[in-house]
Amino acid sequence: MVSYKELGLVNTREMFAKAIKGGYAIPAFNFNNMEQLQAIIKASAETKSPVILQVSKGARNYANQTLLRYMAQGAVEYAKELGWEHPQICLHLDHGDSFELCKSCVDFGFSSVMIDASSLPYEENIALTKKVVEYAHQFDVTVEAELGVLAGVEDEVSSAVSHYTKPEEVVDFATRTGCDSLAISIGTSHGAYKFTPEQCTRDPKTGRLVPPPLAFDVLDAVMEQLPGFPIVLHGSSSVPQEYVDMINQYGGKLPDAVGIPEEQLRKAAKSAVCKINIDSDSRLAFTAAVRKVLAEKPGEFDPRKYCGPARDLMEELYKHKIINVLGSDGKAE
Ligand code: G3H
Ligand code: 13P
Ligand code: ZN
Repeated sequence: MVSYKELGLVNTREMFAKAIKGGYAIPAFNFNNMEQLQAIIKASAETKSPVILQVSKGARNYANQTLLRYMAQGAVEYAKELGWEHPQICLHLDHGDSFELCKSCVDFGFSSVMIDASSLPYEENIALTKKVVEYAHQFDVTVEAELGVLAGVEDEVSSAVSHYTKPEEVVDFATRTGCDSLAISIGTSHGAYKFTPEQCTRDPKTGRLVPPPLAFDVLDAVMEQLPGFPIVLHGSSSVPQEYVDMINQYGGKLPDAVGIPEEQLRKAAKSAVCKINIDSDSRLAFTAAVRKVLAEKPGEFDPRKYCGPARDLMEELYKHKIINVLGSDGKAE
């Protein structure tokens, strides 16, 4: 058993309370490799933003759980080396799908876990979430739960259709489970294809897809039921069109990829939404930069020569999110 406190990590309790009060959101960035982690830490340290490092089940399988834990521990030290005196870094399990996985992460030094039982019937979601909460809280590890279903095409997270969260269920759910935060479904989804062209209109000037708005009425109703309770938005990548264009220009094929417009995320960040999950945008930035280098320099075979530019582009992306979208800069001096 390793306590996250020994690793210099923090849970989400204080982060979220401050974010709700201050009208901003904490970035929750997924990572699978060193370059992503370096870019996240550099961006967070330079902007003095609290940050949540998210590890999915797939990332854990890809990178190895022991290595990931030491990477997170190293991230805290790296942040200090970069001059961030009091780093506020949380290590979070993203979309945990069983008690055993959540327990293993708690025992391995994670400071926060998500139990995503949102695809189960309501009472089963409550029972599983409660079991995880009871275990995690013994070690002061915070727990995110989910109500409502997001549509998506991720490896570990998939559902053909989305079902908005029912605001009339949230008080009962939060009270009976004791969860610390709640992910809700208001129209976001995972991946780089958040809406079909049929769900969008087209901007006549640019020909780009314009997505439909998120269901802010559902968010408002949830906040009315649970005043001041931390709300989480998954599937919040914006799918920047410059990355999509770069990927397509250099041999990729991502037709009609579309995300959540940033102004909608800015609006959400000012509300009780205090954690915004971003993964796909980082994948797009990484892929765009790698494709560009390899297309322009076909003789290149030193991974540092293409992973380095990928890291730079991701760092730029993370800073942009922190400063211009979530407003979390300067909140962890
Ligand atoms: O919400 C899912 C995250 O984007 C993680 O995706 O399961 O492919 O690692 P992954
Ligand atoms: P995106 O696919 O929109 O980046 O969502 C990531 C996410 O919700 C991770 O849990
Ligand atoms: Zn998610």
